[in-house]
Amino acid sequence: MRAIILLVMATMIAGTLLAGTIVAGAIESSDFDDPTVCKGCHGEIYNQWDGSMHAIAYTDPVYLADAEMASRETNGLTDTYCARCHTPIGVLSGEVPPIGLENLSEISKKGIQCDFCHSVNESTGIGNGAFMVSTDGIKRGPYDDSKSPYHGSMFSDLHTKSEFCGMCHDVNHPVTGIPIEATYTEWKEGPYNSTTQCQDCHMTPGITHFEANPGKASGIGPYRDNVYTHYFVGGNAAVTGVMGSEVHQSMAEERLKSAATLALESEMKDNEAEITVKVTNVGAGHKLPTGLAEARQVWIEILVKDASGKEIYHSGGLDSEGEVDPDAVLYHEVLGDASGNPTMKVWEAESILFDNRILPKETRVEKYNFAIPGGLKGPITVDAKLNYRSASQKFLDELFGEGAVVAPVIEMAGAEGTIEVPGEGVPGFEVLFVLISLLVVAYLVRRREK
Ligand code: HEC
Ligand code: HEC
Ligand code: HEC
Ligand code: HEC
Ligand code: HEC
Repeated sequence: MRAIILLVMATMIAGTLLAGTIVAGAIESSDFDDPTVCKGCHGEIYNQWDGSMHAIAYTDPVYLADAEMASRETNGLTDTYCARCHTPIGVLSGEVPPIGLENLSEISKKGIQCDFCHSVNESTGIGNGAFMVSTDGIKRGPYDDSKSPYHGSMFSDLHTKSEFCGMCHDVNHPVTGIPIEATYTEWKEGPYNSTTQCQDCHMTPGITHFEANPGKASGIGPYRDNVYTHYFVGGNAAVTGVMGSEVHQSMAEERLKSAATLALESEMKDNEAEITVKVTNVGAGHKLPTGLAEARQVWIEILVKDASGKEIYHSGGLDSEGEVDPDAVLYHEVLGDASGNPTMKVWEAESILFDNRILPKETRVEKYNFAIPGGLKGPITVDAKLNYRSASQKFLDELFGEGAVVAPVIEMAGAEGTIEVPGEGVPGFEVLFVLISLLVVAYLVRRREK
């Protein structure tokens, strides 16, 4: 049996797709094997994928709540559009619409899974779920010499390239065309486009570069110089945590800690301190943050205290509502609705009001100036941090109600420094001048004596 199903690319039929009239149903979800079938021979790969954001892409409570709100507010126009990337088999098989979990087969609930990705036989472009699949049973992958007793195997160049990921990791509003997510485009326009594929950083132990992972892709297969890992870890330590996948949660934290560096300098000018913070996106192949950028937040927190622990200056703390201090240096994106007001609802997006996210390999220099009150006990300590969270409190409050869900704050990088209090500890200018003069005199005296 050979049924190659062509699916019309979402962008091409944006209007009709929104109207929910996508051609589907020629495929059954039972045309795909459950991941547990693959587990029989690819146990290690299965364990890496299980609990990943791909495995939970449709059961993710944040996704479900957002997609439900989108559906409610658009009378269901977004149903298949959203689900196409979050449960591709659910949409290909026509189990979505309706959205939610009730109508879904067990296999469609498992999000982005083995047999979907390895049945992709062609891409029609970038973004909005531009994939086509074949149900011929042949698994497409990186090897040209692979033999399996269970399935046919075929080399697929697409699977080894960022364009494979780019089919879903660029999301454009199907009507207004506004880029809602542009991870692929950010990568394509950045310095990694000719050296490092998504797979190199996200499917090897290297995190910020390719690092070979020698071993076996299957217990009954040959030894290979490199086997790509399937953890698909990004920055989401929040949902992986809620879903109970400690491995993916801690790997997300580790990844965030590898993405950026922070350098700190402080200087006293009269009674004013100037702190310079340099933040560099050293490890992410796209903007920092990327993905669902209207929710994600990266910001600098500075806390300055005197020797007795008294707070002198604080920027980037959380207020009583859980929001980041409005004066903080915050790297994020703001989408605008039809009236030009900020919106957290991607389906309303008609413009990008603001985007100051850090480009790959870019360094940002931020300066802080504040007065040092007299009579303090030195030395003054400066504690600077670069923080990340998966969603602003406002975003979570809109979905789940006020304060019901809180995203953990993860420290990506940090640095500490001290400032000497003028007139205390370090000699003042006058003292230094006298000291230097004495040294000069002593030197001259010694020369005379010779
Ligand atoms: C998001 C899509 C995606 C999902 C889900 C996925 N894979 Fe893969 N897999 C890939 C890609 C892409 C490669 C090749 C990477 C490269 O060559 O750069 C790959 C490689 C492989 C390979 C070749 C050996 C290796 O790891 O390099 C096997 C075997 C494999 N996958 C099995 C599985 C199984 C089993 C599952 C489910 C437990 C799974 N895959 C889930 C995309 C996926
Ligand atoms: C009966 C054992 C068995 C089962 C079940 C099985 N595989 Fe495999 N598979 C293998 C072996 C053996 C290889 C060869 C590994 C190698 O070449 O290193 C392989 C290779 C692959 C490759 C690499 C293909 C290439 O050319 O790059 C992919 C992708 C793959 N399997 C996906 C899957 C998926 C998806 C499932 C579940 C639907 C699955 N396999 C189920 C045994 C199995
Ligand atoms: C079928 C569409 C699809 C394809 C193809 C796909 N992804 Fe994803 N990916 C998703 C969706 C949807 C999510 C988000 C799930 C969620 O947050 O609920 C996701 C999540 C992720 C995450 C986790 C993000 C985080 O915040 O932690 C990473 C990393 C990732 N994908 C990398 C890749 C890479 C690398 C590839 C290519 C090898 C790829 N994806 C291919 C749809 C896809
Ligand atoms: C040079 C290494 C590198 C490359 C190349 C790379 N990434 Fe990443 N990626 C990272 C790091 C490090 C993070 C964690 C920091 C962050 O969230 O940006 C990350 C985070 C992510 C996230 C989670 C973003 C969030 O905060 O929600 C997604 C999704 C993702 N990457 C997808 C991709 C895709 C798709 C590609 C290819 C188009 C890609 N990455 C290329 C290193 C890389
Ligand atoms: C073209 C594919 C695609 C489409 C269409 C799509 N998404 Fe996503 N979605 C993704 C990817 C990829 C991610 C992961 C990005 C990241 O981790 O930051 C994601 C992440 C999310 C998240 C973040 C989940 C979390 O746990 O933080 C939400 C919420 C979400 N999508 C909702 C929606 C809604 C609602 C729609 C329809 C209006 C939609 N998506 C349409 C690909 C898609």
